[in-house]
Formats: sequence, C-alpha cells, structure tokens
Amino acid sequence: MAEVDLLRRLPKAKRDIRARFLAKTEERVAAACRFGEMYFDGPREYGYGGYRYDGRWIPVAEDIIRHFGLKAGNRILDVGCAKGFLVKDLMKVCPGLEAFGLDVSDYALIRCEKEVIGRLHLGTAARLPFPDNSFDAVLSINTIHNLDRDSVITALREIERLAPGRAFVQVDAYHTPEQRELFEQWVLTAKFHDYPRGWLGVFEEAGYTGDWNWTVLEA
Ligand SMILES: C[S@@+](CC[C@H](N)C(=O)[O-])C[C@H]1O[C@@H](n2cnc3c(N)ncnc32)[C@H](O)[C@@H]1O
Repeated sequence: MAEVDLLRRLPKAKRDIRARFLAKTEERVAAACRFGEMYFDGPREYGYGGYRYDGRWIPVAEDIIRHFGLKAGNRILDVGCAKGFLVKDLMKVCPGLEAFGLDVSDYALIRCEKEVIGRLHLGTAARLPFPDNSFDAVLSINTIHNLDRDSVITALREIERLAPGRAFVQVDAYHTPEQRELFEQWVLTAKFHDYPRGWLGVFEEAGYTGDWNWTVLEA
C-alpha cells in the first residue's frame, strides 16, 4: 500500500472558496447531499456547476492502467462513478478492459455516457453488490468521504473484499489548520474528513491495504 498521485494529470478545478462560503446555506448543503440535478448541473454554489464529459480523465485513465498493469479481459470498478466519464475513458485507453461503475445517484447514472450504458450500478459504497475478489482493481475517487466514519470503514472493507491490495481511494484531507479552514469553508457533502494521520488510522482499522491519495484545497 502506498500514497500515489494518480490524478496528477487531471486539470485543476477553478474554485472560488470565498464565494462558495458566503453563499452556503443549510438548504444548499441539503440539496447538494441529495446528489441530484442541483449537485451535478445546478449553479456552482450547489456542487459542480455543470458536470459534462470533456476527455479530461483520459490521462488519468492511462496512469491507472499503467499503475495496476491492467490489460484486455481484466475487470475494474469505479465506486462513485457519477456519469461514468472515467469508466468510459478506461475502456477507451485499454480496449477490451471490462470497466464498471457504481454510484448512489440515479440522476447521474440516467445521464451516463452512451459507451457505458449497462455498466453502471445504482448502490452505495457501503454495500458493493459483487463477489469477493471479483475485480482486478477498484477505484473510489472523492467519494467515500461522503459517508460518516463508520460507513467509511465499511466502504473500505467492501473495496478490500472485491480487490484485496489492488485498490485506489482519493479522499478529502488537509495538512495544516489553514488548509482545514479553507476546506470547511468549501465543503458541502463530505461527512468525514481528517488529516492524513487520521485517515491512515481509518485505513488500518478497516484493514484496507490498497493505495490512496489526498484531495487538499490550496488558497
Ligand atoms: C465529488 S463526486 C466524484 C465523482 C467522480 N468520482 C469524480 O471524481 O469526478 C462524488 C460522487 O460520489 C457519489 N456518492 C455519494 N455518496 C455515495 C455513496 N454512499 N455510495 C456511492 N457513491 C456515492 C456521488 O453521487 C458523486 O457521484
């Protein structure tokens, strides 16, 4: 298990942290946490501010394929796949790879890319409906921090169960109190977040032996 930056070639999102903070209300947070239209395709104060395919995940997909040594016939699962952009790009850069996704949002799944129709499952990271050891790799990018701490541990155990030692999770974290304050101004949906030390304790408690990286907001 290792810290690895598999998203290093993903363009950085523009974030106006001050504007988000000033616009934050309980109603907006509640709407974001439903992971429906407002979160994906509503105004930026509710979430993404428009979640559309633009190919930005292709270099990330290349790095994931290389990192896990995946080839045609292998199976990979993206937990928190949203509209399936990464699932589509994994199959694009590795023809013959069997890529699948799972997400809690029926809004996102109904609007998936046509190349992934039938490959995306509705469900929660805390209960993955697949047999033990059934994937060559499992990813979960910026997703499991949306669960509470106990459910994060359950989700990590589920990921480990499907692909022991062959997973990658990326989660919200901060290295300094200043970064934590910025994060708390920005955050809408994350229920559990921590310093890396805290996250590593959670990984250990869950028996998670895959790889990881942190999403850290910079001023
Ligand atoms: C920040 S988005 C990340 C989407 C995608 N992985 C990416 O990096 O662009 C968080 C995703 O987690 C999904 N999600 C939230 N709670 C979830 C849960 N309990 N189980 C599975 N997916 C969940 C949301 O619907 C959303 O698609």
